[in-house]
Amino acid sequence: MRKPLIYGNWKMNLNMNESADLIASLLSVKIDYSKVDVGVAPDFCSLSKVAETIREMGYNISVAAQNVSLEEKGAFTGEVSADMVASTGADTVIIGHSERRAIYKETNEEINGKVKAALRNRLHVILCVGESLEEREAGIATETVLYQVGMGLHGINMDRMNNITLAYEPVWAIGTGKTATPADAEEIHANIRGQLKKMYGPVVAEKKVRILYGGSVKPDNVSALMMRDNIDGALVGGGASLDATTFGKLINFNS
Ligand code: PGA
Repeated sequence: MRKPLIYGNWKMNLNMNESADLIASLLSVKIDYSKVDVGVAPDFCSLSKVAETIREMGYNISVAAQNVSLEEKGAFTGEVSADMVASTGADTVIIGHSERRAIYKETNEEINGKVKAALRNRLHVILCVGESLEEREAGIATETVLYQVGMGLHGINMDRMNNITLAYEPVWAIGTGKTATPADAEEIHANIRGQLKKMYGPVVAEKKVRILYGGSVKPDNVSALMMRDNIDGALVGGGASLDATTFGKLINFNS
């Protein structure tokens, strides 16, 4: 049985003080952490503050960076390495978010390099995949997503798969208010799990890797998504993760 994981992606919305306020509010929401895992992804500047607050208060909440460099060190002005992320107390990195792919033109090869850099530095990875509206309308949604999974995980050994979570986020559903129907999302999730089974066998595919759904997840649609066999959690963006009460409702979808 895969434990549900609800992850908030704060994107580029809050400064350090605002991030500190949001994590403090979230820690005051009543949550049964034995039933659900929770994570938040603040901006780089807020990572250490948020990670420290969580640790000091004794909570077991994951903290992720929203991006990472594929380089280890050196003359790469403006980049942040996986070692730097780990040194803040963050434990995870979101890699290949569609905004990184679309706006910053990240390629599958670069994304694969980032996955490897994160794993080398003992960080957990949330690898995002998802098709555009054009790809869905052209009938190549599954093919696109499975290609991104294969490329993103290229050269990653089975023993590293404990540290991988996948997130299926159809690009046309992110921040648009449109959600894939639970049936459409489940179909892609099942195909992703099938691909993992081919690559790594049934134990990794069925027991180790959680597959999150992302794209306009809200308190009123989360339960229907979470009821599906292959949807193990949600990656929630600016829409519903920036308000502690709303995000708390998402986390408590089962209560
Ligand atoms: P959204 O974003 O929940 O605002 O649609 C999801 C994401 O970008 O991870």
